[in-house]
Amino acid sequence: MRIVVLVSGTGSNLQAVIDAVTAGDLEIEIAAVGADREGTYGIERSDEAGIETFVLNFNSFSTREEWDAALADKVASYGPDVVVSSGFMRIVSPEFIERFGGRYLNTHPALLPAFPGAHGVRDALEYGVKVTGCTVHWADAGVDTGPIIAQESVAIADGEDEESLHERIKVVERRLLIDVLRQLASGELKTPVA
Ligand code: GAR
Repeated sequence: MRIVVLVSGTGSNLQAVIDAVTAGDLEIEIAAVGADREGTYGIERSDEAGIETFVLNFNSFSTREEWDAALADKVASYGPDVVVSSGFMRIVSPEFIERFGGRYLNTHPALLPAFPGAHGVRDALEYGVKVTGCTVHWADAGVDTGPIIAQESVAIADGEDEESLHERIKVVERRLLIDVLRQLASGELKTPVA
């Protein structure tokens, strides 16, 4: 199974996937890693791991549609079976998702449909929930929406701050993401379109 991973930031979840592949614990090929802006640590990590990388800077396109079409062309050039949004903080179009047969995987640091968006951890803390968690799902063109594949809860400790909670959630998130990729690679879990 070939995947292309899209990142916008530090790429620590991506690093966990790279490590699992390197260790022989996950039999997939990371064909490429792409970002929507320059200077992300996610791209640096991938370069260090010898993975092909690309950047399609959202701000250097005059319209979202042009950026989205260029991203779809670039991702398609690697022939991925699955595209993974791993901390990729942009929504893509329905056309983008259709082009990859709906096989667009996303992870989110909250129990969707609660607390979607860029600040899932902060929003859960501000609301005052006692339990949050993470979700791996097939993404549609909404903000963190689409069929849920896996979720796990994480209890919030009294007085916990956003950074510490996000780190604890990410530990679980990485395990779920790797499990889902493993199940997809083995055929145990079916992709949305055969
Ligand atoms: C992850 O927690 C991921 O779920 C979240 O960004 C973080 C990226 O961390 N994504 C979203 O919030 C999407 N709405 P990383 O760059 O260290 O892997």
